[in-house]
Amino acid sequence: MVISLNEPLDMHLHLREGRMLDIVAPYSALTFSGALVMPNLVPPLTTKEAVLKYKSQIVEAGGNDKFVPYMTLFFRSDYTYEFLASVKEQIVAIKLYPAGITTNSEEGVSGFDIGELAPVLDAMSDLRIPLCIHGETDGFVMDREAEFIPIYRKIAENFPNLKIIMEHITTKEAVAALEDFDNLYATITLHHLYITLDDVAGGLLQPHLFCKPIAKRPEDRAALLEAALQAHPKVMFGSDSAPHPKETKEAPGCAAGVFTAPIALQALAQLFDNHGALDRLQTFVSDNARRIYGINPPKKEVLLEKSLYLVPEIYEATVVPMFAGQSLEWRVVGAQ
Ligand code: DOR
Ligand code: ZN
Repeated sequence: MVISLNEPLDMHLHLREGRMLDIVAPYSALTFSGALVMPNLVPPLTTKEAVLKYKSQIVEAGGNDKFVPYMTLFFRSDYTYEFLASVKEQIVAIKLYPAGITTNSEEGVSGFDIGELAPVLDAMSDLRIPLCIHGETDGFVMDREAEFIPIYRKIAENFPNLKIIMEHITTKEAVAALEDFDNLYATITLHHLYITLDDVAGGLLQPHLFCKPIAKRPEDRAALLEAALQAHPKVMFGSDSAPHPKETKEAPGCAAGVFTAPIALQALAQLFDNHGALDRLQTFVSDNARRIYGINPPKKEVLLEKSLYLVPEIYEATVVPMFAGQSLEWRVVGAQ
Protein backbone atom coordinates (compact mmCIF):
# COMPACT_ATOMS: atom_id res chain seq x y z
CA MET A 1 0.00 0.00 0.00
CA VAL A 2 1.20 3.51 -0.84
CA ILE A 3 -0.18 6.80 0.46
CA SER A 4 0.72 10.31 -0.55
CA LEU A 5 0.97 13.38 1.65
CA ASN A 6 0.91 16.85 0.17
CA GLU A 7 3.00 19.62 1.69
CA PRO A 8 3.74 18.00 5.07
CA LEU A 9 4.52 20.62 7.72
CA ASP A 10 6.42 20.35 10.98
CA MET A 11 5.20 23.26 13.06
CA HIS A 12 7.78 22.97 15.87
CA LEU A 13 11.35 22.14 14.96
CA HIS A 14 14.82 22.66 16.45
CA LEU A 15 17.55 22.81 13.84
CA ARG A 16 20.51 24.19 15.86
CA GLU A 17 23.54 25.76 14.17
CA GLY A 18 26.89 24.78 12.70
CA ARG A 19 27.63 21.11 12.16
CA MET A 20 24.41 19.91 13.82
CA LEU A 21 22.38 22.13 11.49
CA ASP A 22 24.25 20.67 8.52
CA ILE A 23 23.52 17.14 9.72
CA VAL A 24 19.83 17.49 10.56
CA ALA A 25 18.41 20.12 8.18
CA PRO A 26 18.51 17.96 5.02
CA TYR A 27 16.22 15.38 6.64
CA SER A 28 13.49 17.88 7.42
CA ALA A 29 13.98 19.56 4.05
CA LEU A 30 13.58 16.25 2.24
CA THR A 31 10.23 15.14 3.60
CA PHE A 32 8.64 18.37 4.79
CA SER A 33 7.57 21.31 2.72
CA GLY A 34 8.05 23.71 5.62
CA ALA A 35 8.81 23.85 9.32
CA LEU A 36 8.36 26.36 12.11
CA VAL A 37 11.90 26.83 13.37
CA MET A 38 12.47 27.48 17.07
CA PRO A 39 14.62 30.44 18.17
CA ASN A 40 16.31 28.97 21.28
CA LEU A 41 19.85 29.43 20.04
CA VAL A 42 22.73 30.86 22.06
CA PRO A 43 22.17 33.79 22.04
CA PRO A 44 18.43 33.51 21.25
CA LEU A 45 17.01 35.03 18.04
CA THR A 46 15.88 38.52 19.01
CA THR A 47 16.79 40.70 16.04
CA LYS A 48 15.75 40.89 12.41
CA GLU A 49 19.36 40.49 11.30
CA ALA A 50 19.80 37.32 13.37
CA VAL A 51 16.55 35.86 12.00
CA LEU A 52 17.54 36.57 8.39
CA LYS A 53 21.04 35.20 8.86
CA TYR A 54 19.75 32.02 10.52
CA LYS A 55 17.13 31.56 7.80
CA SER A 56 19.75 31.71 5.08
CA GLN A 57 21.95 29.23 6.97
CA ILE A 58 18.98 26.84 7.19
CA VAL A 59 18.16 27.18 3.50
CA GLU A 60 21.76 26.45 2.62
CA ALA A 61 22.07 23.50 5.01
CA GLY A 62 18.70 22.05 3.92
CA GLY A 63 19.75 22.04 0.27
CA ASN A 64 16.17 21.67 -1.00
CA ASP A 65 14.29 24.42 -2.79
CA LYS A 66 10.95 22.87 -1.82
CA PHE A 67 11.41 23.52 1.89
CA VAL A 68 10.62 26.77 3.66
CA PRO A 69 11.90 27.54 7.15
CA TYR A 70 9.15 29.55 8.81
CA MET A 71 11.01 31.68 11.30
CA THR A 72 10.20 32.61 14.90
CA LEU A 73 11.55 35.28 17.19
CA PHE A 74 12.38 34.66 20.86
CA PHE A 75 9.79 36.49 23.00
CA ARG A 76 10.98 39.46 25.02
CA SER A 77 8.69 41.78 26.93
CA ASP A 78 10.66 44.86 25.88
CA TYR A 79 10.05 44.64 22.11
CA THR A 80 8.55 47.86 20.76
CA TYR A 81 5.61 48.09 18.36
CA GLU A 82 7.92 49.63 15.75
CA PHE A 83 10.37 46.76 16.03
CA LEU A 84 7.63 44.14 15.74
CA ALA A 85 6.12 45.91 12.74
CA SER A 86 9.53 45.98 11.08
CA VAL A 87 10.23 42.27 11.67
CA LYS A 88 6.71 40.99 10.93
CA GLU A 89 7.40 40.02 7.30
CA GLN A 90 10.37 37.87 8.32
CA ILE A 91 8.64 35.78 10.97
CA VAL A 92 5.57 33.62 11.30
CA ALA A 93 5.31 33.62 15.10
CA ILE A 94 7.01 34.60 18.34
CA LYS A 95 7.99 31.88 20.82
CA LEU A 96 7.66 32.48 24.53
CA TYR A 97 9.69 30.41 26.99
CA PRO A 98 9.42 30.63 30.75
CA ALA A 99 12.97 31.46 31.94
CA GLY A 100 15.13 28.39 32.50
CA ILE A 101 12.39 25.85 31.72
CA THR A 102 14.27 24.01 28.96
CA THR A 103 17.30 24.08 26.65
CA ASN A 104 18.60 27.65 26.09
CA SER A 105 15.62 29.38 27.67
CA GLU A 106 17.49 31.35 30.32
CA GLU A 107 16.52 34.65 28.69
CA GLY A 108 12.81 33.80 28.79
CA VAL A 109 9.98 35.29 30.84
CA SER A 110 9.81 35.12 34.65
CA GLY A 111 6.71 35.75 36.72
CA PHE A 112 4.07 36.02 33.97
CA ASP A 113 2.82 39.42 35.04
CA ILE A 114 0.19 40.07 32.37
CA GLY A 115 0.59 43.81 32.87
CA GLU A 116 4.25 43.55 31.98
CA LEU A 117 3.58 41.38 28.92
CA ALA A 118 0.58 43.40 27.72
CA PRO A 119 2.30 45.96 25.46
CA VAL A 120 4.00 43.24 23.40
CA LEU A 121 0.90 41.00 23.35
CA ASP A 122 -1.26 43.95 22.27
CA ALA A 123 1.20 44.76 19.51
CA MET A 124 1.24 41.11 18.39
CA SER A 125 -2.59 41.02 18.33
CA ASP A 126 -2.67 44.19 16.30
CA LEU A 127 0.00 42.97 13.88
CA ARG A 128 -1.53 39.47 13.71
CA ILE A 129 1.62 37.72 14.88
CA PRO A 130 0.78 34.39 16.58
CA LEU A 131 2.26 33.57 20.00
CA CYS A 132 3.75 30.11 20.55
CA ILE A 133 4.21 29.18 24.19
CA HIS A 134 6.22 26.54 25.99
CA GLY A 135 3.64 26.21 28.75
CA GLU A 136 5.24 24.88 31.90
CA THR A 137 5.57 26.29 35.41
CA ASP A 138 8.56 25.50 37.61
CA GLY A 139 6.40 23.23 39.79
CA PHE A 140 6.60 19.45 40.21
CA VAL A 141 7.72 18.08 36.86
CA MET A 142 4.59 15.99 36.18
CA ASP A 143 2.29 18.91 37.02
CA ARG A 144 4.03 21.76 35.21
CA GLU A 145 1.85 21.82 32.12
CA ALA A 146 -1.45 21.43 33.99
CA GLU A 147 -0.36 24.22 36.35
CA PHE A 148 0.31 26.46 33.37
CA ILE A 149 -3.23 26.13 31.93
CA PRO A 150 -4.56 29.08 33.99
CA ILE A 151 -1.87 31.25 32.39
CA TYR A 152 -2.94 30.10 28.92
CA ARG A 153 -6.51 30.92 29.89
CA LYS A 154 -5.63 34.37 31.17
CA ILE A 155 -3.73 35.27 28.01
CA ALA A 156 -6.43 33.81 25.74
CA GLU A 157 -9.13 35.75 27.59
CA ASN A 158 -7.28 39.07 27.74
CA PHE A 159 -6.04 38.99 24.14
CA PRO A 160 -8.95 37.51 22.15
CA ASN A 161 -7.44 38.51 18.80
CA LEU A 162 -4.09 36.89 19.53
CA LYS A 163 -3.58 33.38 18.13
CA ILE A 164 -2.00 31.35 20.90
CA ILE A 165 -0.39 28.00 20.22
CA MET A 166 0.14 25.71 23.20
CA GLU A 167 3.32 23.99 22.07
CA HIS A 168 3.97 20.25 22.40
CA ILE A 169 1.01 19.56 24.67
CA THR A 170 1.28 16.48 26.87
CA THR A 171 -1.81 16.44 29.08
CA LYS A 172 -5.53 15.81 28.90
CA GLU A 173 -5.99 19.20 30.59
CA ALA A 174 -4.35 20.99 27.66
CA VAL A 175 -6.50 19.07 25.16
CA ALA A 176 -9.60 20.09 27.09
CA ALA A 177 -8.57 23.77 27.18
CA LEU A 178 -8.72 23.86 23.36
CA GLU A 179 -12.50 23.81 23.57
CA ASP A 180 -12.76 26.85 25.82
CA PHE A 181 -11.18 29.58 23.70
CA ASP A 182 -11.48 30.28 20.00
CA ASN A 183 -7.94 31.67 19.90
CA LEU A 184 -6.20 28.69 21.52
CA TYR A 185 -4.47 26.07 19.35
CA ALA A 186 -1.89 23.34 19.96
CA THR A 187 0.92 21.33 18.49
CA ILE A 188 1.43 17.67 19.32
CA THR A 189 4.74 15.85 18.88
CA LEU A 190 5.37 12.37 17.55
CA HIS A 191 6.98 11.14 20.75
CA HIS A 192 4.16 12.25 23.02
CA LEU A 193 1.76 10.23 20.84
CA TYR A 194 3.89 7.13 21.35
CA ILE A 195 5.32 7.21 24.86
CA THR A 196 4.44 7.76 28.51
CA LEU A 197 6.76 8.34 31.46
CA ASP A 198 6.97 4.57 31.77
CA ASP A 199 8.87 4.38 28.48
CA VAL A 200 11.35 6.98 29.73
CA ALA A 201 11.95 5.85 33.29
CA GLY A 202 9.85 2.75 33.99
CA GLY A 203 12.72 0.37 33.25
CA LEU A 204 16.31 1.20 32.47
CA LEU A 205 16.52 4.96 31.93
CA GLN A 206 16.08 5.91 28.25
CA PRO A 207 17.97 9.16 27.71
CA HIS A 208 16.91 9.46 24.07
CA LEU A 209 13.27 9.69 25.18
CA PHE A 210 13.97 12.33 27.82
CA CYS A 211 12.45 15.67 26.85
CA LYS A 212 10.57 18.68 28.14
CA PRO A 213 7.71 18.58 28.79
CA ILE A 214 8.30 15.09 30.15
CA ALA A 215 5.97 12.39 28.78
CA LYS A 216 3.01 11.90 31.10
CA ARG A 217 0.39 9.26 31.95
CA PRO A 218 -1.48 6.77 29.73
CA GLU A 219 -4.69 8.82 30.02
CA ASP A 220 -2.82 11.92 28.83
CA ARG A 221 -1.39 10.10 25.84
CA ALA A 222 -4.88 8.77 25.09
CA ALA A 223 -6.27 12.32 25.00
CA LEU A 224 -3.45 13.47 22.70
CA LEU A 225 -3.99 10.48 20.44
CA GLU A 226 -7.69 11.15 20.18
CA ALA A 227 -7.09 14.77 19.19
CA ALA A 228 -4.41 13.86 16.63
CA LEU A 229 -6.20 10.86 15.11
CA GLN A 230 -9.37 12.85 14.57
CA ALA A 231 -7.21 15.70 13.18
CA HIS A 232 -8.86 18.08 15.61
CA PRO A 233 -9.12 21.37 13.68
CA LYS A 234 -7.11 23.29 16.30
CA VAL A 235 -4.27 20.80 16.48
CA MET A 236 -1.18 20.65 14.27
CA PHE A 237 1.78 18.33 14.01
CA GLY A 238 4.95 19.82 15.52
CA SER A 239 7.69 17.26 16.02
CA ASP A 240 9.75 19.21 18.57
CA SER A 241 12.57 17.21 17.05
CA ALA A 242 15.45 18.42 19.22
CA PRO A 243 18.83 16.93 18.33
CA HIS A 244 21.63 16.79 20.88
CA PRO A 245 24.98 15.07 20.39
CA LYS A 246 24.98 11.45 21.64
CA GLU A 247 27.51 12.25 24.35
CA THR A 248 25.29 14.94 25.90
CA LYS A 249 22.30 12.57 25.95
CA GLU A 250 24.11 9.51 27.26
CA ALA A 251 25.59 11.41 30.18
CA PRO A 252 24.85 12.59 33.70
CA GLY A 253 22.82 15.77 33.25
CA CYS A 254 21.25 14.33 30.09
CA ALA A 255 20.07 17.08 27.71
CA ALA A 256 16.30 17.21 27.05
CA GLY A 257 15.12 16.49 23.52
CA VAL A 258 14.04 13.65 21.23
CA PHE A 259 15.38 13.60 17.67
CA THR A 260 12.58 12.53 15.33
CA ALA A 261 12.81 14.59 12.15
CA PRO A 262 14.05 11.84 9.78
CA ILE A 263 11.52 9.25 10.94
CA ALA A 264 8.54 11.43 11.80
CA LEU A 265 6.33 10.83 8.77
CA GLN A 266 7.05 7.09 8.73
CA ALA A 267 6.15 6.76 12.43
CA LEU A 268 3.05 8.93 12.03
CA ALA A 269 1.87 6.79 9.11
CA GLN A 270 2.37 3.68 11.25
CA LEU A 271 0.41 5.20 14.14
CA PHE A 272 -2.48 6.48 12.03
CA ASP A 273 -2.59 3.19 10.10
CA ASN A 274 -2.69 1.11 13.28
CA HIS A 275 -5.64 3.19 14.48
CA GLY A 276 -7.48 3.08 11.14
CA ALA A 277 -7.06 6.84 10.72
CA LEU A 278 -4.76 7.15 7.68
CA ASP A 279 -7.38 9.31 5.98
CA ARG A 280 -6.87 11.98 8.66
CA LEU A 281 -3.08 12.18 8.46
CA GLN A 282 -3.03 14.82 5.70
CA THR A 283 -5.16 17.15 7.82
CA PHE A 284 -3.06 16.62 10.95
CA VAL A 285 0.27 17.00 9.23
CA SER A 286 -0.49 19.84 6.85
CA ASP A 287 -3.99 21.22 6.27
CA ASN A 288 -4.64 22.41 9.82
CA ALA A 289 -1.34 24.29 9.98
CA ARG A 290 -1.90 25.92 6.58
CA ARG A 291 -5.24 27.23 7.74
CA ILE A 292 -4.22 28.23 11.28
CA TYR A 293 -1.04 30.05 10.22
CA GLY A 294 -2.33 31.14 6.82
CA ILE A 295 0.80 29.83 5.11
CA ASN A 296 1.18 28.53 1.59
CA PRO A 297 4.12 26.12 1.52
CA PRO A 298 5.84 24.96 -1.68
CA LYS A 299 4.22 22.04 -3.46
CA LYS A 300 5.66 18.72 -2.37
CA GLU A 301 4.24 15.23 -2.62
CA VAL A 302 5.68 12.63 -0.25
CA LEU A 303 4.98 8.97 -0.96
CA LEU A 304 4.96 6.48 1.89
CA GLU A 305 4.81 2.73 1.39
CA LYS A 306 3.78 0.13 3.90
CA SER A 307 6.98 -1.90 4.12
CA LEU A 308 9.56 -2.38 6.83
CA TYR A 309 12.04 0.43 7.37
CA LEU A 310 15.03 -0.07 9.65
CA VAL A 311 15.76 3.17 11.50
CA PRO A 312 19.50 4.00 11.62
CA GLU A 313 21.26 3.61 14.99
CA ILE A 314 22.81 7.06 14.62
CA TYR A 315 23.19 9.84 12.04
CA GLU A 316 26.69 11.02 11.09
CA ALA A 317 28.08 9.33 14.23
CA THR A 318 26.53 12.21 16.16
CA VAL A 319 22.80 12.09 16.84
CA VAL A 320 20.59 9.17 17.85
CA PRO A 321 16.98 9.15 16.58
CA MET A 322 13.86 7.85 18.26
CA PHE A 323 13.35 4.17 17.29
CA ALA A 324 17.11 3.79 16.64
CA GLY A 325 17.84 0.30 15.36
CA GLN A 326 14.15 -0.65 15.33
CA SER A 327 11.86 -1.28 12.38
CA LEU A 328 8.95 0.94 11.41
CA GLU A 329 6.12 -0.40 9.27
CA TRP A 330 6.20 2.46 6.77
CA ARG A 331 8.98 3.97 4.65
CA VAL A 332 9.33 7.05 2.50
CA VAL A 333 9.63 6.05 -1.16
CA GLY A 334 9.43 9.43 -2.86
CA ALA A 335 9.41 13.14 -2.20
CA GLN A 336 9.10 15.73 -4.94
O1 DOR B 1 13.01 18.50 25.18
C1 DOR B 1 13.12 19.63 24.73
N1 DOR B 1 14.18 20.00 23.99
N2 DOR B 1 12.16 20.51 24.99
C2 DOR B 1 12.27 21.80 24.64
O2 DOR B 1 11.39 22.55 24.92
C3 DOR B 1 13.52 22.29 24.00
C4 DOR B 1 14.21 21.24 23.31
C5 DOR B 1 15.62 21.61 22.91
O3 DOR B 1 15.82 22.69 22.37
O4 DOR B 1 16.52 20.79 23.12
ZN1 ZN C 1 10.78 22.71 21.31
